Amino acid sequence: MTERIAIVGAGHVGLVYAACLAEIGHDVACVDIDTDRIRMLQHARLPIYESGLDELVRRHLDGGRLSFTTDYARGISDREFIFIAVSTPSTADGAADLRAVRTAARSIAAASQHPCPIIINKSTVPVGTGDSVDHILAESGDRSFRVVSNPEFLREGTAVHDFFHPDRIVLGSRDETAACRVAELYASLEAPVLISDVKTAEMIKYASNAFLATKISFINEIAQICEAVGADAAQVAHGMGLDPRVGPHFLQHGLGFGGSCLPKDVRALAFMGSVFGTHPQLLNAVMQINADQRRRVLHTLRRSLGSLEGARVCILGLAFKPNTDDVRDAPSADIIHLLINEGASVHACDPQANAMMARLCPDAQYFASPYDAARDCDAVVLATEWDEFCRLDLRALRASMRAPLFIDGRSVFPRGELERAGFIVPDARSTPLFLRDHVMEAVP
Ligand code: UGA
Repeated sequence: MTERIAIVGAGHVGLVYAACLAEIGHDVACVDIDTDRIRMLQHARLPIYESGLDELVRRHLDGGRLSFTTDYARGISDREFIFIAVSTPSTADGAADLRAVRTAARSIAAASQHPCPIIINKSTVPVGTGDSVDHILAESGDRSFRVVSNPEFLREGTAVHDFFHPDRIVLGSRDETAACRVAELYASLEAPVLISDVKTAEMIKYASNAFLATKISFINEIAQICEAVGADAAQVAHGMGLDPRVGPHFLQHGLGFGGSCLPKDVRALAFMGSVFGTHPQLLNAVMQINADQRRRVLHTLRRSLGSLEGARVCILGLAFKPNTDDVRDAPSADIIHLLINEGASVHACDPQANAMMARLCPDAQYFASPYDAARDCDAVVLATEWDEFCRLDLRALRASMRAPLFIDGRSVFPRGELERAGFIVPDARSTPLFLRDHVMEAVP
């Protein structure tokens, strides 16, 4: 059955939900206060890159089931279902900034003309926010708003696929009828539905992301121990993952997690725990290990090259993961800043994210080809496992470099393959080389 839906927020989550809900038969209006963004969308031009999304947006704009507006009154009007999908960035202390959520709730209350609308919260919000949204709406007049928390579990890059193949639909509400109405929106997806109270649903989202982050930091700590004792971390992860209680996913060691979700959500959950009097030691360790993974690259480079003053380092991969141009909290950004701080120069290359990273790190030089980027460099750091980097001609790459150092930050290549191509692959047990210091000493 076609339902009339409004979505507030045309960001990554809002856009994917708007286009995908239209695809499963609903009539969707997407509202955002950003005029430029909405004008682009009205002409089917997307402000973000997400595989398969442009085609859906174009099809449903043309077919009339999807519209974009900056006008709350027009977008929301008498629609029964109103999603809040605005961003909740981190504040300086790690808490989630809820100003956009509160503003959206007030604007919805002012614009809605439906007698009993259902407000569905998609933004990742601290436990208890659903109740404050309820409170803001209740204060707004005599209409009864029903609030449902419906966290999203989409991964960037595969968000459209994830929408159509959900592992679960989580709905939290004090009004079970409203939760069931929302479940009906997704009926054609045939996913397991879990109905809970609002706080539990909000917590499921945080706990899920925190668990994924914990798996990554766990395997990174194990990989460090493996390196120190001479075990093969990739095989250890494979061996662990064969146990269905452990599972094979999120056990790839390397530079750790980045992006707009995992780092922000772990920080927010730890902050939330601490202001409620708990001591989230595990979450704090997860964040600390993740930060150290980035800094350790500098230590490895220094042990291998000597002083980084005047060194030239090539960073292959800038996006926080492949198949996106998103550089938010990407490990590569921290590594570039640290290198430039120590006097190194940086050659950077990414199939999609060069322009985005150039805004964050204008002091690096950007290249379209990995081979051009590596030319005359002292080291390569592989920071994002794009397909084209996994198929690199390693000999050609090595041939154009000044010194043969390869740091595989995503454990893509077996060590032997890199060594056969002529690279040195430094690890915790290898003798410090100080390659550049020798070169400099040799120069009269
Ligand atoms: C994450 C979750 O996976 C989604 O379920 C969730 O809906 C989303 O956050 C969100 O909260 O909106 P996403 O940020 O797109 O999705 O990225 P992931 O695929 O989870 O990867 C996060 C980071 O972990 C990347 O930097 C990736 O390189 C890193 N990673 C992942 C590892 O270092 N090792 C692994 O084994 C897996």
